[in-house]
Amino acid sequence: MDSKEQEQNQYLMANIHNKELIKKGAFINGEWLETSESNRTFAVKDPATGELIATLPDLSLNEVDHAIRCADKTFQDNYKNTLPRQRSQWLLKLYELMLENIEDLAKIITLENGKSLADSTSEVKYAASYFQWYSEEAPRIYGATIQPSISTNRVFTIRQPVGVCAVICPWNFPSAMITRKAAAALATGCTVVVKPDHETPLSALALAALVEKAGFPPGAFNVIISGTRTSEIGTRLCESSLIKKLSFTGSTRVGKILMKQSSSNIKKLSLELGGNAPFIVFEDADVEKAVDQLILCKFRGLGQTCVCANRVYVQTKILDNFVSMLKEKVSAFKIGHGLLKETTHGCLINKQTLEKVEKHKKDAIEKGAKVILGGGPLPDLGPTFYEPCILSNVPKNALVSKEETFGPLCPIFTFDTMQEVIKAANDTEFGLASYVFSKNINTVFKMAESLEAGMVSCNTGIFSDSAVPFGGIKESGFGREGSLYGIEDYTVVKTINVGTL
Ligand code: SIN
Repeated sequence: MDSKEQEQNQYLMANIHNKELIKKGAFINGEWLETSESNRTFAVKDPATGELIATLPDLSLNEVDHAIRCADKTFQDNYKNTLPRQRSQWLLKLYELMLENIEDLAKIITLENGKSLADSTSEVKYAASYFQWYSEEAPRIYGATIQPSISTNRVFTIRQPVGVCAVICPWNFPSAMITRKAAAALATGCTVVVKPDHETPLSALALAALVEKAGFPPGAFNVIISGTRTSEIGTRLCESSLIKKLSFTGSTRVGKILMKQSSSNIKKLSLELGGNAPFIVFEDADVEKAVDQLILCKFRGLGQTCVCANRVYVQTKILDNFVSMLKEKVSAFKIGHGLLKETTHGCLINKQTLEKVEKHKKDAIEKGAKVILGGGPLPDLGPTFYEPCILSNVPKNALVSKEETFGPLCPIFTFDTMQEVIKAANDTEFGLASYVFSKNINTVFKMAESLEAGMVSCNTGIFSDSAVPFGGIKESGFGREGSLYGIEDYTVVKTINVGTL
């Protein structure tokens, strides 16, 4: 390592207490690969300052293949036959280790992703909770006994681990999107090859350091990293016949490519893709509560979540009250570097994300939206800082009603009738999260049943929980992660038919 690289890593070193969490390479078969055979490296930068925080090996496809083979060998040789109770203990240990290291893990997320420390700390708790949840599920994987039509036969089913799972994760939750997938996989007896986003690989490597400590066998949990070969690696993971399942969280565009590539060997898939969540507030709702919940939902991670409100529908009668309360509360945000104590909201991940927010904002204003809170770039803080923007009277034909913004733009549409808002809310190819606010139980049920979304959250803007099934419909993908259903995604049902008794 040259002196410049040492300097970069000192930046990370100065902020992280447990130095064992700072890793400099991929994690394959229980070993740290600090230099790639390609001799190439890639940089990880703090999005808030642009400062280099780590230089990591850019893995070759050979090294990716090696990771896949190791994961397969571990699966075949021992992991699939480990006792569920044993897997449960490893998972529980991992949960405890994450909580013991919560401050450092949160700082790593903030340094590589830019979100505020409060957001990162919640993410670590959320991420760790998947290991706790699946440590409890591991010994409770059941089959069924079935009454066949043939009297001399007896039929029952068992659930078996699907095999090696590829886990491809985004940058917006550098820890939780890995644990949501890996916890269920490891609980059921699958081994995993994790590919974190090139902008946020450090949380995945810190997690691997804890996996090692928790006692999982080498090869059960592998992390491959690359800054330049994302699409080639994606293809490799899809086309490898040793990988039996792929779980991806990311854009619908990439999800479609992965689905196509996975058809070559009919791979089992879970795809958690883009969203365009409607957030609907009826005039009989508790308006202050709806505003507070909208803020939590919309501005978590500065709007860089698939489940955050993308379109806010407010019934006309309460619009003025709603908008003035929202404006006052959002104006109180403190935007800054995520590590600073006073910061409530950090920065965006990169300039492209900022440009998309700007594009949606300008488009809506050009088409007639009213500016409630101007927002916009904050170049004095850094190139990726953005002050939240609130628009009202947003017209139906604005880009933001069709596309996911993935940033701190809060567009408010108005509606008069329930039929009208159901039609507008469902007028999208996406179907991930949706939100309804009303004190009327009939309205709540009618809306919950009518909204075309995998998840409907009623009178709350935050529902993410390891106990809760997470997933979409339509072009937001398929599969359910977390909860009891997460087990189904990582197992296959085998029918055992005993005949001629
Ligand atoms: C996402 O938006 O990508 C995940 C959000 C969550 O799990 O709460």
